[in-house]
Amino acid sequence: MIDELKPKLSVEPLAEHSGTQTVLVRLSESELQALSHTAHDHQRCGGYELLTDIPAEAKKGNPRHLAQARKISNEIFAMFDQQAKRDTEYASKARATVETLGKNPLIEAAIAEVSETNLRETVDFLSRYPSRNHKSRDGQDAVTAFRQKIESTLKDAKLPYKLEFVQHQSTPMNSIKLTLSGQGALSNEVVVLGGHIDSINSSFFGGGSKKAPGADDNASGSANILEAARILLSQTQAPSRSYEFYWYAGEEGGLLGSAEIAKAAKAGGKKIVGVLQLDMTLFPGDGEFSLGSMTDFTSLEMRDLLERINRDYIGATIIEDKCGYGCSDHASWYRNGFPTLMPFEATMRKMNKAIHTERDVVSTSLSFRHSAMFTKIAVAFMMTLGNP
Ligand code: BES
Ligand code: ZN
Repeated sequence: MIDELKPKLSVEPLAEHSGTQTVLVRLSESELQALSHTAHDHQRCGGYELLTDIPAEAKKGNPRHLAQARKISNEIFAMFDQQAKRDTEYASKARATVETLGKNPLIEAAIAEVSETNLRETVDFLSRYPSRNHKSRDGQDAVTAFRQKIESTLKDAKLPYKLEFVQHQSTPMNSIKLTLSGQGALSNEVVVLGGHIDSINSSFFGGGSKKAPGADDNASGSANILEAARILLSQTQAPSRSYEFYWYAGEEGGLLGSAEIAKAAKAGGKKIVGVLQLDMTLFPGDGEFSLGSMTDFTSLEMRDLLERINRDYIGATIIEDKCGYGCSDHASWYRNGFPTLMPFEATMRKMNKAIHTERDVVSTSLSFRHSAMFTKIAVAFMMTLGNP
């Protein structure tokens, strides 16, 4: 956005990064409003981000704190460079071997177990709550009830698992984490599948109702993850690598839960080999056999893996697209240096326009057959990376 936005901003950038077309600027309230309008003109909800971990004093223009803000943003830019380098190295070394792997009958059998009925049941379950707002009582109630639902869904699990809440500093809502330990020398390496469980009504004119059923955004991804977990834990053989499943809190408040989880994973030196994000899978905006794949805040190697999974097990048309900003929890992992992937219900232009309103409910314009594709992708992703 640098080239488009710079002339419209009457302020000098404090730092910039050409690879991602990103600038750091300090704005007044009115300048921020002008930017918000420009971003919406470009069909981007949030073509910009507010850096919340920058010291409050920097916002007042204190030079010492501005320097600190610059330092924080340069660290972010350095991470983008590191991720770009990973892509370049992958492209030059490993890409050729991608074509040679064939179908795995175990994966084919697991995929055949995906149930659209289960998906519908889970989406109904979550979207019955008036709201899953991360700051609301209803939100935490939904999370608590969902944890019980996970427990009952896993009653026939053949592999041992651990189910827990993750508490946060930045939101009162808990995330839910489900772990399946790998077996053997690679069990310290982890494959992650996640999506946010919270919802939001972002209308300024809620009329007091402020209902946020969030069926597509993101009861759908939450249901995909649960259905994938059910199938993966009903396998008789444990994977070599460990699996972690997350239902993140507070995504709609600014990727809050996932930011804390990914930061802790980096600080703990966790070996995470891949992160799959599922956020909105129910609306077939480009048709039932088409899906979007976000190219920003995701890794080339993971997108290649999606192509391969699609070729071997799914047979959909994949259309690459961009959010243009850190639009979901995969961005939290990407910012902390991990390889990520985000398949999406459609292209941005054709996505569900009812999200963040009381109209994001199950209707005939949604397709559980479409959504089931994403559970299949998740199962294949976990099993492929889980057993290298
Ligand atoms: N699912 C949405 C956003 C989305 C839109 C993802 C298009 C992929 C493609 C997500 O829950 C959301 O609303 N994100 C926020 C940003 C977040 C940092 C608060 C948004 O897009 O405004
Ligand atoms: Zn979402």
